[in-house]
Amino acid sequence: MGQADQVPELSEIRRRAKERMGGVCRVCRVCDGRACAGEVPGMGGIGTGAGFIRNAEALAEIKLNMRVLHDVAEPELGVTLFGLPLELPVLGAPVAGVKINFRELVSEADLAAAMVGGCFDAGTLAMTGDGGHPEVFESGIAAIREAGGRGIPIIKPGPNANIIRKFRAAEAAGAPAVGIDVDAAGLVNMRLLGAPVGPKSPRDIRELAESTSLPLILKGIMTPDEAEIAAECGAAAIVVSNHGGRALDHTPGVAEVLPGIARAVKGRIIVFADGAVRTGVDVLKYLALGADAVLVGRPLAIGAFGAGRAGVARVVEAIRDDLRVAMIMTGCPSIRTIGPQVLAS
Ligand SMILES: Cc1cc2nc3c(=O)[nH]c(=O)nc-3n(C[C@H](O)[C@H](O)[C@H](O)COP(=O)(O)O)c2cc1C
Repeated sequence: MGQADQVPELSEIRRRAKERMGGVCRVCRVCDGRACAGEVPGMGGIGTGAGFIRNAEALAEIKLNMRVLHDVAEPELGVTLFGLPLELPVLGAPVAGVKINFRELVSEADLAAAMVGGCFDAGTLAMTGDGGHPEVFESGIAAIREAGGRGIPIIKPGPNANIIRKFRAAEAAGAPAVGIDVDAAGLVNMRLLGAPVGPKSPRDIRELAESTSLPLILKGIMTPDEAEIAAECGAAAIVVSNHGGRALDHTPGVAEVLPGIARAVKGRIIVFADGAVRTGVDVLKYLALGADAVLVGRPLAIGAFGAGRAGVARVVEAIRDDLRVAMIMTGCPSIRTIGPQVLAS
């Protein structure tokens, strides 16, 4: 998964990824969870696959107002998050667990290095994952350290003492924030690997927020009341996410729940959203629905399989170029100005 000598075109990256992923991912023309429904472990959505499929459907149902009588020719895509200037409001989502999800077709360390390094090269940063095998978290931390702290580890909701130990590792690696994928509460198989997980009470969250000087992100919030709890208990950010449809069957699409959640907490905490973001137009839609920034998961993993770090960077750059055009075509001079006015009702 090393750096390719010359960065191939996106079509070639996807062709190579399909070959190298050996059926784990079909690299479909439209990545919407239909072909891989039920493939967890793997790249799909859990159960019927409805959560992943709904993410894509709900996003596709959003239509945009095209506006072209203005002077927005050079929109500004930059944002500042956790004190870091980023070239675009798009971060890499944690995609990890090669032993269970990718039949070990790649090493955990190589995948993490490609995701974190590629996002860094494209002017943004990636989140890294955690799992039952210690090397999942450790590979992410090593990649973040290697990138000079440009990465955010997302930790599984195990006992607080274990999470706090991992916070210390994140602090030492120079990470600008830490997170917990609270929606991994139902991963019962983690107990078999000696790393049990479960739901976090408001009291747990308060203890965790107070245990680190870094901003705390809660990933996997799908209702306004839980967004409120996150804000009240000291979280600095949430990710509105159904874990790419991998945590619970039959959740709504993120685009459906995001406006209500943004109304509840936007401005008090950072609101990220993820699920089925494939283009800059998708980014624009989630921002218009209330997100401050978005995460992209599966397409970056495909980039990593296709051309390593350079492949990840290329996928992010394609989304950036598409977002720039989408902002011109909706008359948005900056990320801040993307709002409900771009949504056709
Ligand atoms: C193979 C795979 C592994 C994942 N591993 C993690 C993980 O370790 N931690 C986590 O918080 N989310 C994990 N996710 C969820 C993603 O971070 C993200 O929420 C989701 O994939 C976003 O949807 P998208 O892939 O359609 O962009 C994983 C997703 C996939 C497909």
